Amino acid sequence: MNFQEKVVLVTGAAVGIGRATALRFAELGARLVLLDVAFEKLQRVRDEAGALGTKVLIFDCDISDEARVGEVVAEAVRHFGKIDVLVNNAALWRCRSAFVDTPTAEWRRFFDINVMGTVYVTQAVLPTMIAQGWGRVINVASVAGVYGNRNMAHYSATKGAVISFTKSLAKEVAEQGITVNAVSPGSVSPAEREDVNYTQPSELSYLGRTGSDKENAELICFLASDGASYITGQNIQIDGCRRKL
Ligand SMILES: NC(=O)c1ccc[n+]([C@@H]2O[C@H](COP(=O)([O-])OP(=O)(O)OC[C@H]3O[C@@H](n4cnc5c(N)ncnc54)[C@H](O)[C@@H]3O)[C@@H](O)[C@H]2O)c1
Repeated sequence: MNFQEKVVLVTGAAVGIGRATALRFAELGARLVLLDVAFEKLQRVRDEAGALGTKVLIFDCDISDEARVGEVVAEAVRHFGKIDVLVNNAALWRCRSAFVDTPTAEWRRFFDINVMGTVYVTQAVLPTMIAQGWGRVINVASVAGVYGNRNMAHYSATKGAVISFTKSLAKEVAEQGITVNAVSPGSVSPAEREDVNYTQPSELSYLGRTGSDKENAELICFLASDGASYITGQNIQIDGCRRKL
């Protein structure tokens, strides 16, 4: 895989899958636009990616702030001239409460970031992809969006929305040379570890372990590569064969 000519935007790039994805794209030669609300950690990722020899722009950006997303994407396009690949990775997921105990404000908070944030960034980036007749959108969803996690109804619903958004958008932009896919990780934790290869034993997968940030990054990079040119409108689970609890 070679991304020498490509500009890649990753949201939520300060830790975890987003950080591993940014670093893997940097190794493969891409120029990077990285967004996160955890700006100090994002500065460290900029330094790590920069040390691999690539150009990196970082932005302190809450993806649920539509106006800020518009500003940031416009500045990135002014700087690099285009965005070829969009990885919608930023999301809230740490939660555990019964549906009856979950305030509706919490539903709104999760939908504002996980769904509307994804919509704002995608809407801001798509015109540059349409103008050049080529683009790749990869949305990070979750097995929770496929099976539904107990005591995570609001989170699961946001990821179900991201998966159906992916399938719909793929059909709308296929003729413009843009593919749109989702990846749905199983368990990949904890995100704060420096080691992108970190895994733990897990009873939630038949492979008996969690997935690593690096394994998720590899799948995302593959979907952005020329090798994945005939894959669109798909949700690809990366879960070690999930036990559907
Ligand atoms: N870790 C898992 O087990 C797991 C499993 C399935 C799916 N996922 C999905 O993978 C993605 C990454 O998760 P992770 O566990 O690697 O990292 P994480 O959830 O720890 O971090 C995500 C990053 O997004 C940033 N972020 C959160 N809200 C934001 C906002 N409003 N604007 C901008 N940035 C924001 C955070 O600061 C953080 O750096 C998420 O979409 C998550 O739902 C994770």
